[in-house]
Amino acid sequence: MKIIHTITELRAELAAYPSAPAFVPTMGNLHEGHLALIRQARLLIQGSGSPVVASIFVNRLQFGPHEDFDRYPRTLARDAELLDGAGCDIVFAPDEAELYPEPQGYQVQPPDAVANLLEGEFRPGFFTGVCTVVLKLFNIVQPRIAVFGKKDYQQLMVIRRMVAQLALPITIVPGDTARANDGLALSSRNGYLTDAERVEAVNLSLVLRSVQTAVSALRSAGGQTSPILVELESKATAQLRDRGWLPDYVALRRQKDLLPPTASELIGNEPLVTLAAAKIGKTRLIDNLEI
Ligand code: PAF
Repeated sequence: MKIIHTITELRAELAAYPSAPAFVPTMGNLHEGHLALIRQARLLIQGSGSPVVASIFVNRLQFGPHEDFDRYPRTLARDAELLDGAGCDIVFAPDEAELYPEPQGYQVQPPDAVANLLEGEFRPGFFTGVCTVVLKLFNIVQPRIAVFGKKDYQQLMVIRRMVAQLALPITIVPGDTARANDGLALSSRNGYLTDAERVEAVNLSLVLRSVQTAVSALRSAGGQTSPILVELESKATAQLRDRGWLPDYVALRRQKDLLPPTASELIGNEPLVTLAAAKIGKTRLIDNLEI
């Protein structure tokens, strides 16, 4: 596996391959969830002679002023070992001066309808930062396939729409969320948790399960006990608050556009997803479950 830090070197390296790569963008500090995406990328290009490329870049543009940009762990040597073991061929790890040699004045502004709800409401500018760096990385790596984890469910949707609207010749493939044995979604930010917070953290996924169970029960009862959507969401939010969390949201949404389902969609068979973001101590975690 090669570790490459500049755009020029990366382009020269990629030119030697017969076809375009499969790409997994990351911010490093990798865990099993990222490695599963690499293995998925490997399977997708099997037999084509294409390489699997991962990028490691902590993208300042997607962090708010009071977020964890400075303390986000930079662990390139360890990440490179893990990527090598997972079957990655090339790691692109530019420094900031390489990716943003001058202030990034041209930015991708995703529409409010996808970017200003849920994560976008609590992290203003987040999806502009994500879309800008992802489009730039796509232009540098020129992949034909890119794999994004469903753990960042809204990010996956925002990127898919960007790729569709800008007619980029890239297939976006979703990767399942990897979980610890107790059900906690794997995240680079889990490393910030104290031992006690780590024990508590599983309750984020348990609250989502309780929403999933409530919707399934409602659907199998033919909607007869119909609690309204807001009740489901506020009960789940209160469960977290009672346990000492600071929830930003627990939401039940349509998978296709992350908008609230109508009453008939709620009790019918519209594919839904329940999503949550909440702080435990100083650490903000997100998770979701498809229904
Ligand atoms: O999901 C992430 O790790 C980041 O948002 C991404 C896609 C690498 C862009 O910086």
